Amino acid sequence: MNKVIVSLLLTLGITGMAHAAGDAKAGQAKAAVCGACHGPDGNSAAPNFPKLAGQGERYLLKQMKDIKAGNRTVLEMTGLLTNISDQDLADIAAYFSSQKGSVGAADPKVVARGEALFRGGKLDQGMPACTGCHAPDGSGNPTAGFPHLGGQHAQYVAKQLTDFREGNRTNDGDTMVMRGIAAKLSNKDIEAVSSYIQGLH
Ligand code: HEC
Ligand code: HEC
Repeated sequence: MNKVIVSLLLTLGITGMAHAAGDAKAGQAKAAVCGACHGPDGNSAAPNFPKLAGQGERYLLKQMKDIKAGNRTVLEMTGLLTNISDQDLADIAAYFSSQKGSVGAADPKVVARGEALFRGGKLDQGMPACTGCHAPDGSGNPTAGFPHLGGQHAQYVAKQLTDFREGNRTNDGDTMVMRGIAAKLSNKDIEAVSSYIQGLH
């Protein structure tokens, strides 16, 4: 291979890494301010604050950048990320991603309906199963940036699905993947699938 191309590839590779790789150790101290709501290790106590522990690094970083840029509205975090650099956000994402996520319990009264939706979708309405992107155990697809859902607070999950359906959360890309899916979910569907997700691991 031509020497110029080799050094070009090396340079690209190295800068690519500098942007992508977060340092979990460095991120721990920087994440202290987040712990008040999300829990020091990313396992939040309150059901309206999402757990960040064990979430995919790529997904976390995308959400932080979306929130910082105002592409996703989180009133509780207004202004909080403004002065945090992209490298610090990457470190924080790496830290929370490296923590172990806790799991809750599903409501036995709605778990069957929730499981049927999660695993089977609504094929008659063209709604795919959640498992296709979020995996049968809810672990998502970290490389693709599909979020980990298993064990997440049902209240938070239900709010996200409702926000996607009502157009209050619009950062799911040009394909509107989650807005399209949530449009097919009734309130009862959302309650059931969110409860199922809370107990999933
Ligand atoms: C005052 C409470 C509060 C603090 C402090 C806070 N957050 Fe949040 N954060 C929230 C709430 C509430 C949401 C979810 C909002 C919603 O319902 O969409 C959220 C959502 C998020 C999400 C999206 C999670 C997901 O699963 O999509 C990320 C990532 C995040 N916060 C990171 C951070 C980081 C990093 C910090 C510290 C620099 C931080 N937050 C500090 C309240 C807080
Ligand atoms: C074709 C792929 C795909 C399918 C199928 C899919 N999702 Fe998603 N989902 C995504 C992607 C991608 C995102 C992240 C969007 C973003 O970047 O903000 C997401 C985000 C979410 C979120 C927000 C997570 C968080 O932490 O805030 C929830 C909740 C969710 N999906 C639930 C579901 C449920 C329930 C189903 C089945 C009824 C489902 N998804 C089916 C791709 C998919």
